Amino acid sequence: MDQIQDQKQEPEIKIVLADESHVHYVDEILETIAAAAKVRGTGIAKRNPEYVKQKMIEGKAVLALCGDDFAGFSYIETWDNKQYVTTSGLIVPDRYRGKGLARRIKHMTFSLARKRWPEAKIFSLTSGAAVMKLNTQHGYKPVTFAQLTNDESFWHGCEGCVNFDVLQRTDRRYCICTGMLFDPKDPDCLAAAQKELDLDPTCRETIEAKYGPMPPYKLPEKESKTLLDKIKSLFK
Ligand SMILES: CC(C)(COP(=O)(O)OP(=O)(O)OC[C@H]1O[C@@H](n2cnc3c(N)ncnc32)[C@H](O)[C@@H]1OP(=O)(O)O)[C@@H](O)C(=O)NCCC(=O)NCCS
Repeated sequence: MDQIQDQKQEPEIKIVLADESHVHYVDEILETIAAAAKVRGTGIAKRNPEYVKQKMIEGKAVLALCGDDFAGFSYIETWDNKQYVTTSGLIVPDRYRGKGLARRIKHMTFSLARKRWPEAKIFSLTSGAAVMKLNTQHGYKPVTFAQLTNDESFWHGCEGCVNFDVLQRTDRRYCICTGMLFDPKDPDCLAAAQKELDLDPTCRETIEAKYGPMPPYKLPEKESKTLLDKIKSLFK
C-alpha cells in the first residue's frame, strides 16, 4: 500500500519537443554528457553549446522534464544530404536513470526523424549496451560500416573518441562501436518499429499535434508484393 502511494507521488516526467524556450538547459545538458563520457571512458563527439541550441531552435531536439528539472535529452542530425539520420547525444542524468526515460526519449527522436525524413535511413554507431537494445527494439539491424553514411562531417565526430586510432588504422572499416541501421524499405525494420512505438501513444500524439500524421509503418502494396515475390522465388 505504501509503495502504491509512493508511486502515485512521483512527479510526472514529460518528453517534449524542444524549442527556443529550452535553450537555457544547454549548459546543464553538455556538462551531464561530458561527465557521463568521463565515467564511461569513451571520449566524446564534440558538441558546442551553439550547435545544441540550434538543434532546439530547428525543432530537432527532445527533452525529458520533471517539472522544470532536466531529466534527459537527445537530438537528431541529418547526413549525406538527408539520406541518413542519426539520433545523437542521448543522456539521462544519474538521478533519473532506470525509469525508462531513455526509451521514451528514443521513441520521440526516432518518430521525429521518421516524420521529418521518412525516406532516410536511420543509423547508429554505439558501444553502449542500453543504446544497442533500444536500437534493436526500434528495428535497427547490425551492419558493417560500409552501409553507414560516407559524410565526412559524421566521421569527424569520432575524432574525440579514445578509440579513434582503431578507426583510422582500419580505414574506417572497423572499430569498437557497432554500426546499426534502420532501413525504411525493409519490412522487418518497419514492423519492429511499429511494435515498439505502439507502446507509447503519447509520443505519436505529440509529433502529430505539431507535424501532422506519421508515415505508415507498412510498405506500399506494390513494394510489399515485390518483396514477397522475391522471398517466394528463393524457395522455388
Ligand atoms: C544509457 C542511458 C541513456 C540509459 O538511460 P535510462 O533512462 O536509464 O534507460 P532506460 O531506463 O530507458 O532503459 C532502456 C533500456 O536499456 C536497458 N539499459 C539501461 N541501462 C543499461 C545498461 N547500463 N546496460 C545495459 N542495458 C541497460 C534497460 O534495461 C532498458 O531495456 P528494457 O526497456 O528492455 O528494459 C543512461 O544510462 C545514460 O545517460 N548514460 C550515459 C550516456 C550514454 O551512455 N549515452 C549513450 C551514448 S551511446
